[in-house]
Amino acid sequence: MTETAPQKRLYIKTYGCQMNVYDSERMADVLRPLGYGVTDQPEGADLVVLNTCHIREKATEKVYSELGRIKRMKARKAEDGGEMVIAVAGCVAQAEGAEIMARQPAVDLVVGPQAYHQLPELIARAHRKSGERLAADFAADEKFDALPMERATNGYTAFLTVQEGCDKFCTFCVVPYTRGAEYSRPVEAIEAEARRLADHGVREVTLLGQNVNAFAGEGGLAGLVRRLARIPGLDRIRYTTSHPADMDEALIAAHGEVEQLMPYLHLPVQAGSDKVLKAMNRAHTADSYLRLVERIRAARPDIAMSGDFIVGFPGERDADFEATLALVREVAYASAFSFKYSRRPGTPAAAMTGQVAEEVKEERLARLQALLNDQQMAFNAAQAGRVLPVLFERDGRREGQVVGRSPYLQPVHMAGPASLKGQIVPVRIVAANRGSLSAEALTERMAEVV
Ligand code: SAH
Ligand code: SF4
Ligand code: F3S
Repeated sequence: MTETAPQKRLYIKTYGCQMNVYDSERMADVLRPLGYGVTDQPEGADLVVLNTCHIREKATEKVYSELGRIKRMKARKAEDGGEMVIAVAGCVAQAEGAEIMARQPAVDLVVGPQAYHQLPELIARAHRKSGERLAADFAADEKFDALPMERATNGYTAFLTVQEGCDKFCTFCVVPYTRGAEYSRPVEAIEAEARRLADHGVREVTLLGQNVNAFAGEGGLAGLVRRLARIPGLDRIRYTTSHPADMDEALIAAHGEVEQLMPYLHLPVQAGSDKVLKAMNRAHTADSYLRLVERIRAARPDIAMSGDFIVGFPGERDADFEATLALVREVAYASAFSFKYSRRPGTPAAAMTGQVAEEVKEERLARLQALLNDQQMAFNAAQAGRVLPVLFERDGRREGQVVGRSPYLQPVHMAGPASLKGQIVPVRIVAANRGSLSAEALTERMAEVV
């Protein structure tokens, strides 16, 4: 009989953006050889990792309240003679690591987004109760070099981080401070990771970066997309998030020419007033953004546009906010994320005069979201009657139902066998909601037509 190491239980909770989702998966990969298996229950776990987000005040507060809950679980485990190690990772760890350890002594270790390859050593120190237990250096290259080759994948879609960090310094944003300077992974390493994913059955990959289109490897992001499009089995490629200033002609052209590149683009604009955009240090105007969208649509007319918006940035007057609504009307977004401006310590905007009252922010956000919701509904409704290729990924909530994604990233529900999972199938869209589409299978005869 072969002896297997006892399984240690690892619970990871992920906050924030997709890059944190990717990092959480890779932390699990780093810890797997040490005998840690992932559990979805924090109670009784041997190691709890909170992978945190610092982007808005609320996101940060959530971490501290969750730590309170986990601390009680740690105490219960200690009563039973067990040990639970609590780790705080991600952007809050980077921004206020020392403060976390002081404020919540139950935290055993703190690991920034570019140091999680050091987790095994930090955990060992936590068990020994000696040595430095805060790792928050910026060394993206070391992090990626130190990651294990193998990735556990459990589906047909996967995230792949290709770029990290940000040099843009929008005046409201903490990311340049929490993720450091822009760093692009070597093309060969990315291609190797994509090939392994495809070998494991992944059919759609989403390339990630805080500014993914600033990818500086040979040929830029367009070159990378074209290279990955040659990998057999990798039928769909997406990327997020992009900055308008880094949307070059080669990438726009790729949208018209690379079949695997899906017609969906998340291109945050933040606001529609040039005065506000300038104060945000966004490096684009409302007009330059609109012209950019025009060029992208000329290359790929059916592209679904998505964006991010901030309302109530310091100094935003009613007329400025109206300019945001006007821009939204002109673009017609398929989906979008919108936020009230959140004052982040240490960022230039936090010190600006003209901070906007909370009620005004609330009212503006409600108006903006009503418009964006209408646009999303209209975009979805326009798909009714069309035949779209859907990559089915998982079982639906109802028995006998499968769920996948349209090329435009809309969730699509359909009655069908589980064997559809992992397949890209043309289906007829029969109904639309704001958040999803319903489809039915094509008859065989129709399938021939497609
Ligand atoms: N790198 C990406 C996204 C970064 S964070 C980009 O530049 O587009 C995701 C979104 O959070 C931002 O696009 C912005 O809309 C929002 N955000 C960032 N800082 C914020 C703050 N202080 N208050 C409110 N929203 C913020
Ligand atoms: Fe933040 Fe601006 Fe960088 Fe995006 S581009 S991560 S909003 S600083
Ligand atoms: Fe949040 Fe850090 Fe991502 S602040 S949005 S987890 S880069």
